[in-house]
Amino acid sequence: MSDAHAADLVIRNALLVDGTGAPPRAGGLAVTDGRIVALDDVSAWSGAREVDAGGRTLAPGFIDVHTHDDRALIANPTMDCKVSQGVTTVVAGNCGVSLAPLTVDRRPPPPLDLVGDTAESFFADFAAYLDHLDAEPPATNALAQVGHASLRVGAMDDVTRPATAEEIRLMRGRLEKSLAAGAIGMSTGLFYPPAIAAPTEEVIELARALHEAKALHTTHMRDESDRIVDSLEETFRIGRDADVPVVISHHKCAGQANHGRSVETLKLIDAARGRQHVGLDAYPYVAGSTMLDSGRLMGASKVVVTWSVPCPDAAGRDLAEIAADWGVEIAEAVSRLTPAGGIFFMMDEEDVQRILAYPHTMIGSDGLPHDSHPHPRLWGTFPRVLGHYCRELKLFSLEEAVRKMTGLPAGEFGLTDRGTLAVGMAADLVLFDPAEVIDTATFEAPKTPAKGIAETWVNGTSVWRDGTVTGARPGRALRLQSLTMPDAA
Ligand code: ZN
Ligand code: CU
Repeated sequence: MSDAHAADLVIRNALLVDGTGAPPRAGGLAVTDGRIVALDDVSAWSGAREVDAGGRTLAPGFIDVHTHDDRALIANPTMDCKVSQGVTTVVAGNCGVSLAPLTVDRRPPPPLDLVGDTAESFFADFAAYLDHLDAEPPATNALAQVGHASLRVGAMDDVTRPATAEEIRLMRGRLEKSLAAGAIGMSTGLFYPPAIAAPTEEVIELARALHEAKALHTTHMRDESDRIVDSLEETFRIGRDADVPVVISHHKCAGQANHGRSVETLKLIDAARGRQHVGLDAYPYVAGSTMLDSGRLMGASKVVVTWSVPCPDAAGRDLAEIAADWGVEIAEAVSRLTPAGGIFFMMDEEDVQRILAYPHTMIGSDGLPHDSHPHPRLWGTFPRVLGHYCRELKLFSLEEAVRKMTGLPAGEFGLTDRGTLAVGMAADLVLFDPAEVIDTATFEAPKTPAKGIAETWVNGTSVWRDGTVTGARPGRALRLQSLTMPDAA
């Protein structure tokens, strides 16, 4: 081997699933300086570290397109819950909520408190947030959006009304400055109290700044239940009027009356895609999770408390049982528990499968990393898609499952040098056993690492190996300016 090419890392004897949707093929891969330098036949290469994959699957690292990891990237920088799933890049700032740009002098209103519950958690400047990630890097790469609700809380004395022209100017100025600093777009959470009073026109005015910066818009829509069609039309209109790509977050049909309606919603999304750029993501569970609010129980058949400030012991307990114990109505129990969070069983398994199988659906965990009893999606999303929906239910092939987590989101979020295996690409990689991979986190015991993820590398450095984090933090805060966003149409 004296005349072999030297690499930092050579992985041999793998089944390559390259993220494009192409069928798996046997081969290997070599990495130097954090990039893939050889692929398929690596017999002429020798690595400072050599890994025999033993026939296991080697894929691009997974991209978690919908996260609330804004503060976890700082507070829990080894990102155990993500790297244990093979996730190498996370998109933060979703559902209208971001840590920047915002100054508060006390605990912010929900749902902002899902990511930051103290004034110190927030950054007045988006650049300062990204600089912080540069200085104290996490294990995963990160993309960050500006939250519309965060803009509103920072610019308005009363968020229960539409913003005035002056307030829109102030928000737009802060948004433009954040985009210049590297924010990849703006998210809205029109479902939530700090944004529900925002008219569509307010969002369009702000989204025009996204058009100019070539950034994107993601949305937790105003209504995911009875008025879901109106919400889809509103989302399409924002995208068309502002001429920006839109991504529908965690697409679902909530509440028993709406079960089965994904047939209709996917048809509408398909039709809209003929006219404009529309993307979507989903998580692989019939329950959602967010702030607890008696006005927003979303027709759930069951609610489990995930955290509560006044009653920490309620975490993990059924809301109906708590109300029965206390001898009060549900609404009264909720008001005694808040501020609090909950898990809401509100979807239909057939809708979940239909949406997951839709070819344009990406995977996003929507995990809430600071909850004391979180929804299991935080630790289980990606292995559950691979193990449960792909292997056990055969909802799609392995290469299609991997594409939904890698090549597809890389295209939607402008990551031109990640998401597929090719020479020159960043070496974000996951090695897993497709026969074994499965989530172990449950609604009862939600914080357990998945099985079958042998190793995860970010920018060529191992971050998860043999069931534990390595402690390395090679992640990068990726800026809009280095990305190539899709066109609006
Ligand atoms: Zn959301
Ligand atoms: Cu979310």
